[in-house]
Amino acid sequence: MATAEQLKSLIRSHLSMNAEQFYTSALQIAAHEARQGHDTLANEIKEMVDLARKKPATNNVIAFPQELAGLILTEQPARSLASLVVDSTLKERIERVILEFRQQHKLKKHGLGHRRKLLLSGEPGTGKTMTAQVLATELKQPLHIIQMDRLVTKFMGETGAKLRQIFERIRAMPGVYLFDEFDAIGGERDLGNDVGEMRRVLNAFLQFIENDTSDNLIIAAANNPRLLDRALFRRFDDVLHYALPDVESRKCLMANLLGTFQNPRFPMDKAAQAGKRLSHSEIDRACRDAIKMAILNNQSRATCASFNALLKERHAAYQGKEK
Ligand SMILES: Nc1ncnc2c1ncn2[C@@H]1O[C@H](COP(=O)(O)OP(=O)(O)O)[C@@H](O)[C@H]1O
Ligand SMILES: [Mg+2]
Repeated sequence: MATAEQLKSLIRSHLSMNAEQFYTSALQIAAHEARQGHDTLANEIKEMVDLARKKPATNNVIAFPQELAGLILTEQPARSLASLVVDSTLKERIERVILEFRQQHKLKKHGLGHRRKLLLSGEPGTGKTMTAQVLATELKQPLHIIQMDRLVTKFMGETGAKLRQIFERIRAMPGVYLFDEFDAIGGERDLGNDVGEMRRVLNAFLQFIENDTSDNLIIAAANNPRLLDRALFRRFDDVLHYALPDVESRKCLMANLLGTFQNPRFPMDKAAQAGKRLSHSEIDRACRDAIKMAILNNQSRATCASFNALLKERHAAYQGKEK
C-alpha cells in the first residue's frame, strides 16, 4: 500500500489543481507498488497517468489562482488573418510564426525550436492585441490575456510571485499567452511606480521567459518601444513593430469594414486621405459608426458626408487622448 505521505501529497496536489504534481505523486505510488512486487497495480497506475497526460487540454484545465481572476481574460477568439491589415513584411512574419508552430514537430526532429516568444510594439490601436487573437484563432488555442498594468497595481511587491504562478500555468497548459500593456514593467524609466520594484519584476519576467520550455506562444505587447529596456529585445525570438496605417492600408481597412455599406460613389481615396494619422482602431470605430448611422437613418449605404464627419470626430478624440 502507498504510504501516508504519498496519499497526502496526492490529495494536496489534487486540491491545489496542480496536475503535474498530481501525476508525479501518482507515479511515486506506482514506483512504490512495483518495489513491493505489485506489478499489475503499478502498471495500471502508470497507464492511467499516461492516458491523462495525452488528453486534450480542456479536460485537464489548471485554472489560474482565484486572486488572478479578473486580471486574466481568457477567450476563444475567432479572428481571421485576412482581417488584419498590416504591411506585407509584418504579415509574412506573422505567417512564419503560424507555419513554424504548425510544423513544430518537423523542426524538433532536427533539434530546432519554433519561434514562440514574441514582442509586439507600436502605437495603441494598431493591432497588437488583434494579432494575438488572430494567432490563437489560426492555431486553435485559447487566448489568455494577462493585463500587466493591473497586475502590477494590484499586487505591488508581490508581482514576481504572481508571475511565477502564471508561468507555472504556461508550463502545464497549452494556449496563447499575451502579456498586454507590457510597458507597465518593461520600461527603463520610472512610470510613477517604485523603480527598484519594477526592475525586480522585469528581471523576474526575463528569468521566467528564458526558463520557459513549453511549446506555447508567449507574447508581450507594448505601446512605447522607446521606453523598453534594451535587454528585453534579446529574450524574444521575434520583435514585431506596428505602425499607424499608411494611405493604402487605410483604404483597405475602410473597404473591409464598410463592406456592403460602402457607397459606390464614395471617393475612397479622399476618405483615406482624411483618415491620415488615425490608428486602425480609430478608423474601425468611424466605419462602425457610419454603418450605425446609415441603419438608423434607414439607408443602405453610408453617406460620404457622414463618414467624413465621423473621421473628423475620431481625429478630435484622438488628439484629446494625446494631451
Ligand atoms: N492592423 C489592424 N487591422 C485591422 N483591424 C485593426 C488593426 N489594428 C486594430 N484594429 C481594430 O481595432 C481594434 C483594437 O485594436 P488592438 O488590436 O486592441 O490594438 P492594440 O493592441 O495595438 O492597442 C481591433 O480589435 C480591431 O478591430
Ligand atoms: Mg492592446
